[in-house]
Amino acid sequence: MRSENFLKKVSRYGGSAVLLCSMALLGMPQAMAGNPVNGGKVYNQHCKKCHGVSGKSTFPGVADFSRGEGLLRADSELLKKIRNGGGMMPAYRGILKDNEILDAITYLRKLHR
Ligand code: HEC
Repeated sequence: MRSENFLKKVSRYGGSAVLLCSMALLGMPQAMAGNPVNGGKVYNQHCKKCHGVSGKSTFPGVADFSRGEGLLRADSELLKKIRNGGGMMPAYRGILKDNEILDAITYLRKLHR
């Protein structure tokens, strides 16, 4: 009886470990390499009016993405920033999905070459 219970626990634990692993595998590539083409669409629609064509902001004091400014942080940090907004930037939580924001971040990183 006892060992049977133990086995059940192990298999339950093992099951969730497998689940976690496959979630990580499915989630990671998307988080690490967004789609820049879709990101460009998101950017043109939502971000260009402030951050400008090719990331050259028209607002004084705002990072110039075409010079790689403001992008020296991990995607997860930038994601947080864009979700929460700040200053004059609107919060995009609820407006854009995380993967759309990550696509836009990938696009921003490509503006600086
Ligand atoms: C209404 C104008 C406006 C729009 C629209 C806008 N932003 Fe911003 N953004 C700003 C301003 C102003 C700041 C600087 C404010 C701050 O850092 O708190 C900023 C800061 C940022 C930063 C951080 C830069 C840094 O130096 O820390 C990122 C990244 C960013 N915006 C990306 C985006 C993306 C992606 C979009 C579109 C989904 C977007 N922004 C839409 C005005 C805007």
